[in-house]
Amino acid sequence: MGGVFLCHSHRAKIAKIMTYFPLFLKTFAEDLDAFMGKALSENHILDQAMRYSAVPSGKAIRGFLVRESLRLAGFSEDAFWDIAAAFELFHTYSLIHDDLPCMDNAALRRGRPTCHLAFDEATAVLAGDALQAEAFVLLSTPSPSFQSKGQIRLIHRLAVSAGRCGMALGQAIDIAGTVNTLQDLKAMHLLKTGVLIQTAAMAGGLLGGDEGFTHTMETFGGLLGLAFQVRDDLLDIEGCPQETGKTAGQDQHNQRVTFINLLGPTGSQDLLRDLEKQAGDCLATLPNAGHLPDLLSFIIHRRW
Ligand code: IPE
Ligand code: IPE
Ligand code: MG
Ligand code: MG
Ligand code: MG
Repeated sequence: MGGVFLCHSHRAKIAKIMTYFPLFLKTFAEDLDAFMGKALSENHILDQAMRYSAVPSGKAIRGFLVRESLRLAGFSEDAFWDIAAAFELFHTYSLIHDDLPCMDNAALRRGRPTCHLAFDEATAVLAGDALQAEAFVLLSTPSPSFQSKGQIRLIHRLAVSAGRCGMALGQAIDIAGTVNTLQDLKAMHLLKTGVLIQTAAMAGGLLGGDEGFTHTMETFGGLLGLAFQVRDDLLDIEGCPQETGKTAGQDQHNQRVTFINLLGPTGSQDLLRDLEKQAGDCLATLPNAGHLPDLLSFIIHRRW
């Protein structure tokens, strides 16, 4: 299980989750792909690049988090597709730009050539721009399921998470390569990856206006988002491209500061275990956490 130390009963529990949960997530991702496929056209080369990158999705964990968050906030099953799709489209934009030659210069994404290689660099930049905008189109479309006040709360939070105090800043700090303390590395990872996952976790609370739930999910989402990136850094050195769909060793090649550089693989796994415990304790305060505990285990122990 990725080297994270586990006692026997915990190991059996994790093995069970890692057997059923990826299949459960895959079924959700396929349904979401069908929805996103309908939402995206293939008219122009720009549409084709957007669709190529967004569908099929990857693990769709941000979309799944949105689904769980909305379900736990009391929204009906059919309310979450637009919101889940918006988060996955937004995430896809961030991947296209992250892979560009001027950023990580990656050749492989989800087991296929990256957008700028499958199309060209200008089209990839524009496909990312348009996917980001499309996410906000979906979030701001009037819906009988949501009050506009709730939609504005979510849109505002996502915009803050995306920009100069969020993901874009995190990516800029990553590329500058100036981080050298654990505290700064955690802060950077929380910005570049954590805040989008955190906002997805908060979606139901923000849309419904439940402050207590929103606050708990903010704490949980931050811990989950950070754990997600620690695992991503570990997979960069110990993952297999057939499973991750990405070239191995990209971080070292790009001289990125990662949890592995600062803590080593064992220290990174200790940090993961610590984050898993904190996030689990946070979920235990909810009257019903739905599939979130299993999602947490999946993110901590995933191989892809
Ligand atoms: C990869 O995200 C980028 C990071 C934020 C580390 P995912 O691992 O969720 O990518 P997909 O969507 O499953 O391909
Ligand atoms: C990407 O982090 C973060 C964003 C896309 C904002 P990484 O550069 O580590 O992601 P991968 O490993 O390429 O998926
Ligand atoms: Mg990167
Ligand atoms: Mg990258
Ligand atoms: Mg990575």
